[in-house]
Amino acid sequence: MSEADLTWGVRASFVNYVEALGEVTTEPPASRDPNGAWRFPLVEATTTHRRYAGAVSFRAHHGALAVTLKNPWLERTDTGHSLSVAGSPHSPVKARLVIADVLPDGGASLAESGVAFFDFHYAAGTPLEALSF
Ligand code: HEM
Repeated sequence: MSEADLTWGVRASFVNYVEALGEVTTEPPASRDPNGAWRFPLVEATTTHRRYAGAVSFRAHHGALAVTLKNPWLERTDTGHSLSVAGSPHSPVKARLVIADVLPDGGASLAESGVAFFDFHYAAGTPLEALSF
């Protein structure tokens, strides 16, 4: 556990929804803090980006809902950072996908390109849990 880790609770209402109906699993080296947020260890940092490792998978409706947030990266933008995640065999995401726009204070909202990830339930700009990094 290090202060350089990324910690993020994704979106509480989504986590609650999936935990009620299915399961949420954490894949190392990610771990889950007692407050429910996921912790992704830092693997590489430059002046423009920080790359973290680990994954969290959400599964419900007998696999009709199956999405994974894997190896999140933060990259500098004009207004803060973009948060992207990698594709995985268990996820409809096949390449890196920018999922959130992140303000310098860690406040996060759903990016336009992240809308499909949540099956269009949330509009672009919907608040997500704040990140700490
Ligand atoms: C057979 C497939 C599915 C069924 C039957 C289903 C059903 C539902 C239902 C009934 C709700 C409302 C739950 C509530 O208000 O408590 C809901 C919400 C939601 N579903 Fe699904 N869903 C399916 C697939 C998916 C998939 C593939 C995703 C993609 C990630 C998804 C993401 C969501 C989200 C983000 C919400 C809103 C959760 C919230 O913030 O309250 N669902 N779904």
